[in-house]
Amino acid sequence: MKKSLLIAEDDENILELLLSVFSRPDLDVHPARSGSEAMDLIDRHDIDVVLTDLVMPGGDGLEVLVHARKTLVNCEVILMTGYGTVENAVQAMQLGAFHYITKPFKVVEVVHLVGRALEMTGVKKENIHLKRHAIDHYRFENIIGVSEPVRQMLSLVSKVAGSNATALILGESGTGKELVARAIHYNSNRADRIFAPVNCSAIPAELLESELFGHVRGAFTGAHTARAGRFEAANRGTIFLDEIAEMSPPLQAKILRVLQEQSFTPVGGTKVVDVDVRVVAATNKDLEREIAADRFRQDLYFRLNVIPIHIPPLRERVEDIPVLVDHFIGKYARESGRRVRGFRPEAMESLKRYSWPGNVRELENLVERLVILSRDGWFEKKDLPQAMLPQEDKARGKAAEKLQNGGLDFRKAREDFENSLILEALSLCGGNRNRAAGLLGLKRTTLLEMLKRKGLHGP
Ligand SMILES: Nc1ncnc2c1ncn2[C@@H]1O[C@H](COP(=O)(O)OP(=O)(O)OP(=O)(O)O)[C@@H](O)[C@H]1O
Ligand SMILES: [Mg+2]
Repeated sequence: MKKSLLIAEDDENILELLLSVFSRPDLDVHPARSGSEAMDLIDRHDIDVVLTDLVMPGGDGLEVLVHARKTLVNCEVILMTGYGTVENAVQAMQLGAFHYITKPFKVVEVVHLVGRALEMTGVKKENIHLKRHAIDHYRFENIIGVSEPVRQMLSLVSKVAGSNATALILGESGTGKELVARAIHYNSNRADRIFAPVNCSAIPAELLESELFGHVRGAFTGAHTARAGRFEAANRGTIFLDEIAEMSPPLQAKILRVLQEQSFTPVGGTKVVDVDVRVVAATNKDLEREIAADRFRQDLYFRLNVIPIHIPPLRERVEDIPVLVDHFIGKYARESGRRVRGFRPEAMESLKRYSWPGNVRELENLVERLVILSRDGWFEKKDLPQAMLPQEDKARGKAAEKLQNGGLDFRKAREDFENSLILEALSLCGGNRNRAAGLLGLKRTTLLEMLKRKGLHGP
């Protein structure tokens, strides 16, 4: 893509020289002969780099610099100072200039500086593009849910995002903990800094400390060079400590110290490093139980638990299932370019009755699979995995299979079914006949009779 360069210079000879130097096919060059003309061009064009003289009529180079920084987020400014005073140069840098050059200059120097500034705007544009994508993607509107618990959770999340507080996200696997952690970051004033996710259970315990805090050279065998950790890299950003319950107690102590003092010492080091990092942690474990079992430090728990965010499991917010389904159908239909109509009502009913141990992730995976496999765009009950069907459907599925494979002996099948129910009830009650009869809705004497007749013993 063509880039654009604005050259502001009131000395006609120098302007001519620069215009001829930068007359290149990859550049749109805009000449200006005064400060006001330059500012006017900045208002009207998407300028990448400004090369401006310091002293000009109609507004000096510093004014042009300030105007460019204010108007164009992604523009670099280089000042040319004829009166090489140090103060002007320092001031220019403080105001955000990319560089300054003193007159008389060598043409190669200017070409080099402008080239670097152009490169810089390329990198910045790429970053801005990536960040915009992330910010769009993690807007609260993208956390789908209409149920009361999710609404409440989202209103809490938006309050947390606006603060600098530590947050602890609690929820079963697949409920959206990481999604919420990212939403907190990308809706906070740290959004243009790094979001560093660290999965504490995926990194071996002996490496986790150095991953988080870095190490000095020679800290351990194989540490040939010093290395910065994730806390340092995420300075002024957010670190997401996922599955924090898996962290060893000594490391938990070190995390506590970062939270309290905003500083740490790298592995093997003595020098304290200061950081400004927001910590968001998540777990699917019951931390109070982990504390009782001496696996989690209570002081760290108190420190993390300032603002707990509970994400309810999907089975407790069945109203969210249809909207989540729509959302995922939209996503996967778009990705695959297939036309999808949706779930038939009985299939949707089954989804609502299912227990969803894998929560939203399980639902998302199901939709993705069905979109790929579907023929006419409708998802039927028979397309659902066995485990998602209600009991009676499972029994029907099995019956159909047997009948299609040559039929069965009805009496024996009934007998087998009765026997399995009785044995299951007995085993659940540890052999207690009285309670097993209760579970089966039978009188104790009836159960005893049946056991005798069938020759069953149970536990
Ligand atoms: N409310 C929601 N709206 C839209 N997508 C969601 C929602 N909740 C979860 N998801 C999606 O479900 C998937 C799982 O979410 P995520 O990875 O955040 O869960 P998790 O709680 O971190 O799971 P785990 O404990 O297994 O790590 C992701 O693809 C996420 O985008
Ligand atoms: Mg996760």
